[in-house]
Amino acid sequence: MGWLFSFEGLDGVGKSTQVDLTRKWLEGQGLRVRVVREPGGTDLGEKIRDLLLYQGQHRDGRAEFLLFAAARAELVRSVIVPCLSAGGVVLADRYVDSSEAYQGAGLGVDLGLIHAVNRSLCQSAWPRGTLWFDGVQRTEGLAGDLIETRARSFFDRVRLGYQTLAEREPERVVRIDADQDREQVSAEVIGWLRLWMSR
Ligand code: TYD
Repeated sequence: MGWLFSFEGLDGVGKSTQVDLTRKWLEGQGLRVRVVREPGGTDLGEKIRDLLLYQGQHRDGRAEFLLFAAARAELVRSVIVPCLSAGGVVLADRYVDSSEAYQGAGLGVDLGLIHAVNRSLCQSAWPRGTLWFDGVQRTEGLAGDLIETRARSFFDRVRLGYQTLAEREPERVVRIDADQDREQVSAEVIGWLRLWMSR
């Protein structure tokens, strides 16, 4: 079995850059790496991504969660599990915790529902470690999709959602100060991966 690591945080904190730097480092170690982004990464997932991020504004939070979950189910079965079974490393640019932070803390969707669905969909592919990038959001370069244009108060709740997760599961979810320069951030990320992979 390989390893699955997820990268989380608010939009625009430099998460995707770190996914890329981590991929390069892992490949340099001779490992097979697959990067996935949520929502997306499969035909169905890309269609759901388009629906969620670009079509229609007002929707029920549970409906939104279940659409993210549908995209996740497809990604887990067709991409993540096969890659882990082949001994590869999967880097997920967002995963189960985004649901808890965005739909749970952000929109008030019942956390029991979110846990139950996530656990059921991802039990064979639970993250070995999760890096929560916490820092000042940079708005330049953001796609300006429907979620990114929500109110400041929504993102404050999402951030608190991540904080709660990091406090509840300190072994798995670690906070990374995303305001350090990117080499420092990367060194910290790689330090955590080394630790998780040695256990
Ligand atoms: P994306 O353009 O991929 O943003 P980022 O580069 O910040 O990851 O858009 C994904 C958006 O979907 C982002 O605003 C977070 C949101 N999202 C949820 O609300 N719930 C989820 O379960 C997932 C996976 C993403």
